[in-house]
Amino acid sequence: MSRVRVWDPLVRLFHWSLVLSFAVAWLSANLWEDVHVWAGYVAGALVVVRIAWGFVGTSYARFSQFVHPPRAVLTYLKAIARGTEPRYLGHNPAGGAMIVVLILATLATAFTGWLLTTDAFWGVRWMQHVHNIVAHGLILLVAFHVAGVVLACYRHRENLVAAMIFGHKRPSSAEDIS
Ligand code: HEM
Ligand code: HEM
Repeated sequence: MSRVRVWDPLVRLFHWSLVLSFAVAWLSANLWEDVHVWAGYVAGALVVVRIAWGFVGTSYARFSQFVHPPRAVLTYLKAIARGTEPRYLGHNPAGGAMIVVLILATLATAFTGWLLTTDAFWGVRWMQHVHNIVAHGLILLVAFHVAGVVLACYRHRENLVAAMIFGHKRPSSAEDIS
């Protein structure tokens, strides 16, 4: 069966490194501060690199390829509800919107975490709450993200997790959007 390359090595390495650093930061929170702080910084740094790659990277890695206006995202979500959403070779409009939100929420989590290490916010309770709330918001988004991936795998009969590991997907058919 023929295959097309979609996700470049940087995107794939970014994704699984982000999953790992996020998991370590999450599991070490309040247990092992040095590990927590470093895993959090790694997650933040990965996202900064990915933002730059979103402007200069390969075609399917670019924000201009997968970030759509809110109206298009809504239209796609309605199509999902009706079970008529088209397959996209790159990220679909709903997935693209989720990626933007995940990137921003990861940045906000790492930034508020860093603030807790500064003289201005060290030991400041309300900032601890903000960091905690943003981190919990992020894990909720991740749950929706993974649910979206599972749904898309089922609807389009393809293994998107394998695609994010190996980089290639089934070529577009006439009804797909490439
Ligand atoms: C084990 C859990 C996870 C699985 C199975 C998973 C799976 C995937 C898959 C299959 C894609 C590609 C979606 C598509 O085909 O359009 C993707 C993209 C993405 N995921 Fe995850 N994901 C997981 C956890 C996470 C976590 C924890 C984060 C962030 C904290 C995250 C952030 C992202 C981002 C930013 C992208 C866009 C990739 C890019 O274009 O660079 N994911 N994920
Ligand atoms: C994606 C990255 C991160 C995630 C998911 C995350 C998540 C969390 C969570 C869930 C807590 C527990 C809050 C509580 O129960 O009170 C926490 C606490 C904390 N985090 Fe993070 N964090 C991240 C990044 C960072 C970074 C980059 C730093 C510092 C440079 C940091 C510093 C701290 C500190 C100092 C606490 C303890 C706050 C307290 O005393 O209540 N975090 N983090």
